[in-house]
Amino acid sequence: MPTNNVYFSHPSALVESSQIGKGTRIWAFVHVMEDAQIGEACNLCDHVFVESRVRIGNQVTIKNGVALWDGVVLEDRVFVGPNAVFTNDKNPRVAYHKKPEEFLSTIVRAGASIGANVTIVCGVEIGRHAFVGAGAVVTRHVPDYAIVVGNPARLKGYMCECGNKVQPNVVCACGRLFSFLEGRLICISQNSAPTLPRTAGMVIDPPPPASQIAIF
Ligand SMILES: CC(C)(COP(=O)(O)OP(=O)(O)OC[C@H]1O[C@@H](n2cnc3c(N)ncnc32)[C@H](O)[C@@H]1OP(=O)(O)O)[C@@H](O)C(=O)NCCC(=O)NCCS
Ligand SMILES: [Zn+2]
Repeated sequence: MPTNNVYFSHPSALVESSQIGKGTRIWAFVHVMEDAQIGEACNLCDHVFVESRVRIGNQVTIKNGVALWDGVVLEDRVFVGPNAVFTNDKNPRVAYHKKPEEFLSTIVRAGASIGANVTIVCGVEIGRHAFVGAGAVVTRHVPDYAIVVGNPARLKGYMCECGNKVQPNVVCACGRLFSFLEGRLICISQNSAPTLPRTAGMVIDPPPPASQIAIF
């Protein structure tokens, strides 16, 4: 029961923006404010709220009960778990109003996942394919591919784009190979040499010293 030929909107949703991409699904009791930008093939589950100066890429899933405030950017294929909390004002005081430009943004890079009930303190960037564990409180930038958990969120390991845990210089079961460059984990091969076994956990080279891994 699409409400137009471009995207689906449940009859109980309030959609005030005209910038919504093809194939996006907007479910019950969602409120999308005017000028909010939402890409293609997204899924906004029940009770999601999207403020005007929010940008959402393509194939983004936002689970139930999430509010996205002005300045939040979700790039392509981001997953936001149920009841995750974003913020945009680090020190709100009712009697001291801030101008729109004084609010801090939060950027969630492509492919990253935010677990259920996470809180993200504004002004941070969640790296590409990073994974924020359930219930974490994020107070700092999160590197690409990092798994962070706890309050405050701390580095626990690394996760491949495919969802397997990975280490540097180990071939993931999906074929990707990672290495450290200037203290950052990067994917150096999407499809490692066929002669290399494709078993997660196989060490090809010794891992780098711990001093290069500790980012937090
Ligand atoms: C972060 C996560 C991916 C880790 O999964 P995992 O690797 O299977 O974790 P493990 O069970 O092996 O736990 C490893 C350690 O991390 C701890 N841990 C795992 N998840 C944690 C979390 N969210 N917060 C704090 N600690 C966590 C475990 O207690 C364990 O600690 P220990 O080494 O002291 O025993 C997972 O726990 C998680 O939080 N997933 C998010 C689920 C979610 O919110 N989904 C939303 C859609 S429904
Ligand atoms: Zn993988």
